[in-house]
Amino acid sequence: MHNLDQTPVEFWESHYDAMSPHSNGIPGKMLVRFVDSLAPASALELGCGRGDDAIWLAKKGWQVTAVDLSYRALEYAAANAQRSGSASRSSLPNTI
Ligand SMILES: C[S@@+](CC[C@H](N)C(=O)[O-])C[C@H]1O[C@@H](n2cnc3c(N)ncnc32)[C@H](O)[C@@H]1O
Repeated sequence: MHNLDQTPVEFWESHYDAMSPHSNGIPGKMLVRFVDSLAPASALELGCGRGDDAIWLAKKGWQVTAVDLSYRALEYAAANAQRSGSASRSSLPNTI
């Protein structure tokens, strides 16, 4: 349940505190549909969460910059990128 007194940062930090840190490894269907046929280039992901989409892109050869409002999400995304072996193709600044 969303507490209306929470700021967006508080909402998303508590959301990720309650989640497993691990990426499910499944990119969004719309991303796959529109990007799968494109040649790899640069991508900026706004709101990367645990990194599912960013890591999928990086594994396909994209140079990804992923940002998120939540520091917890970025910690998880960075660890997931490391685990996947794609960290050198992604960078994780914190917020926009
Ligand atoms: C529905 S999640 C999407 C996560 C990811 N793209 C995925 O598919 O797994 C939305 C994300 O946007 C982030 N977010 C919300 N508002 C933001 C903002 N103003 N700037 C950066 N990130 C934001 C949230 O912290 C959350 O991680």
